[in-house]
Amino acid sequence: MLRIERHLTTDDLDKTLRRDVHDGLSAHPKSLPPKWFYDERGSALFEEITRLPEYYPTRTERAILLRYASGIGRATAADTLVELGSGSGEKTRLLLDALRTAGTLRRFVPVDVSGDFLEEAAGLVAAEYPGLDVRAEVADFERHLHLLPAGGRRLVAILGSTIGNQPPRRRVAFLSDLRSTLTEEDALLLGVDLVKDPGRLVAAYDDACGVTAEFNRNVLHVINRELDADFAPEAFEHVAVWDERAEWIEMRLRAKAPQRVRVRALDLTAGFAEGEEMRTEISAKFRRPTVEAELGRAGFSLAHWWTDPAGDFALLVARPRVPGPG
Ligand code: SAH
Ligand code: AVI
Repeated sequence: MLRIERHLTTDDLDKTLRRDVHDGLSAHPKSLPPKWFYDERGSALFEEITRLPEYYPTRTERAILLRYASGIGRATAADTLVELGSGSGEKTRLLLDALRTAGTLRRFVPVDVSGDFLEEAAGLVAAEYPGLDVRAEVADFERHLHLLPAGGRRLVAILGSTIGNQPPRRRVAFLSDLRSTLTEEDALLLGVDLVKDPGRLVAAYDDACGVTAEFNRNVLHVINRELDADFAPEAFEHVAVWDERAEWIEMRLRAKAPQRVRVRALDLTAGFAEGEEMRTEISAKFRRPTVEAELGRAGFSLAHWWTDPAGDFALLVARPRVPGPG
């Protein structure tokens, strides 16, 4: 059974995009939030990234899931799998299978901003798992956590290191918000990419085929279409740098020449100097002590931590701590 709930209306999306683009293009340095990469084309480009030889996170996390999914199923005995930023839900099937084998699975709640992509992906899952109550939520997990279905014993999964696309203070605030929507029966499953050789990290975000570059520039296509802007995406170069101090990869778009961009829906003109860089994403890489500390500040305690043999990626289960954040 498939139901789609749309918490993000076109109006709502429009209002948030307008505010983010207005603030981001008026700031010094300029920046844009990564969630605007993901229209239908952006989600498809991300899927292509996950198959690139340089982009190890997806296949590594899948290998960890293959090995430990049944343990996760037994340990959580969840009847509801909520997945925040579910994308194609390709790895999710390993969890659904494990929870089905454990005999507890009843409901699947994929949550994503990329509405049409989510609808298609959820439709496929509903067809593959007859009897499963699939309730897809087109929602912004930064704003709509309180609207997600309650009840039952929930496992909330955030896979692919999507949590790393938020800066430290914001992700602790986000995890605290999430904690406040959970009961002691629920659990959190988090996939986090780990600190490693910077050469491998930069290659993962600057692939030889230029798919990540196209994904990065997609945010400009989205703004052109949604806000009647005249960015020339090809006039911007893809940049991926490792920030040693912050331990994150930063993706930027660098203006190849001076240019003026008109965003008609905002009645805004933004000037770019030659070589000016605009930040479009951070992708934090983690170490276990930092993850444990952040979970602790958000009101969770770490219950399980699994990695691949090379220690490239970790999958963890955390439990809501009583009495909560603090
Ligand atoms: N979990 C999948 C996809 C990761 S890509 C995997 O591991 O492969 C990140 C996903 O999060 C995209 O599908 C994107 O549309 C979604 N996303 C990003 N920001 C979001 C937000 N604020 N609210 C809901 N979904 C978001
Ligand atoms: C979704 N997110 C965790 C990806 C990442 O690795 O930070 C998005 C991405 N950006 C460039 N490549 C992939």
